[in-house]
Amino acid sequence: MTTMPASLSPSPEGTGAFSTQPLASDPRHLLGLEGLTRERLLELLDAAALERDRLRAGGPDRNDLAGCVVMLAFIEDSTRTRTSFDIAARRLGAQTIAFSASASSLNKGESLLDTARLFEAMGAQLLVVRHSVSGAAAYLAPRLPRMAVINAGDGTHEHPTQGLLDLLTLRDHWNGQFEGRRLVIVGDIAHSRVARSAIAGLTALGAHVTVCGPETLMPADVEGLGCWRAATLDEALEGADGVMALRLQRERMDKGLLPALGEYASRFGVTPARVRLMKPGAPVMHPGPVMRGVELPCEVADGESSVVLEQVANGVAVRCAVLQRAWSAWKETHR
Ligand code: NCD
Repeated sequence: MTTMPASLSPSPEGTGAFSTQPLASDPRHLLGLEGLTRERLLELLDAAALERDRLRAGGPDRNDLAGCVVMLAFIEDSTRTRTSFDIAARRLGAQTIAFSASASSLNKGESLLDTARLFEAMGAQLLVVRHSVSGAAAYLAPRLPRMAVINAGDGTHEHPTQGLLDLLTLRDHWNGQFEGRRLVIVGDIAHSRVARSAIAGLTALGAHVTVCGPETLMPADVEGLGCWRAATLDEALEGADGVMALRLQRERMDKGLLPALGEYASRFGVTPARVRLMKPGAPVMHPGPVMRGVELPCEVADGESSVVLEQVANGVAVRCAVLQRAWSAWKETHR
């Protein structure tokens, strides 16, 4: 786990301990998929599918979140997650405030918690937060009694809305059936919050996950997460129902962990020949941004098995559903 930077206050208990507990029992927050029941996950997927139908129907923008102020606090870079939260919140009639670390008092040493408290005091009700430290969202949630916190990616821990959009995409391609299906996740598992959320969601829904990647990028406890580890990508893909390639998270790696990119591409790149090892029609996923020619060759990234843009589109629907859920729970608590 990454150490806590100075910009995030140590816990008031003074232990410096930093829990990644998902607080699954508090419906206001969405901190992770780990700990969510099958029923809760299916409910969220149904709600997201409904939102997707509404978005596709292109009806007028709605006012479900009228009166709601959503603070988008992305203390780490993001393109698709931030913009899709923004689009989703606006489509539902909320106001959004984009908060960037570089133009704020975080630069003057104000802690993230103090900054979030400021927005709470100003009346923002929903906080969407991305941070490089694992557990950042879980740290903030109990300390902001008048806010609902949604984790948009915390260090190497979880990225629950990405996990949900991946599940929604797979549900479409798997005819609604998760039991008995098998997804291969390939690449930098050790640093991937996307993989952790996918593994938590898929295993809760009865699907199997096979992981494969360089030794140096594989967490020691990977089998403990409920996955099977394959020695080669060809072995992993044989008869699989889909594959998710991960981005090599070079910003989180200590020097020396990454094999040469050419070697990585030849051992772990999802080539057309490898796609053919899977069941016919098995989707190729990637959370983006894709390193073309390394994780996916262009002919696969743009090929007919690729569902990368479906994932992106589903991201808006999932975030609509998650924002709705947070706002309803917030109103229940603060009525
Ligand atoms: C991922 C992230 O930031 O966790 N991207 C995303 O949200 N779509 C994956 C990544 O950056 O590798």
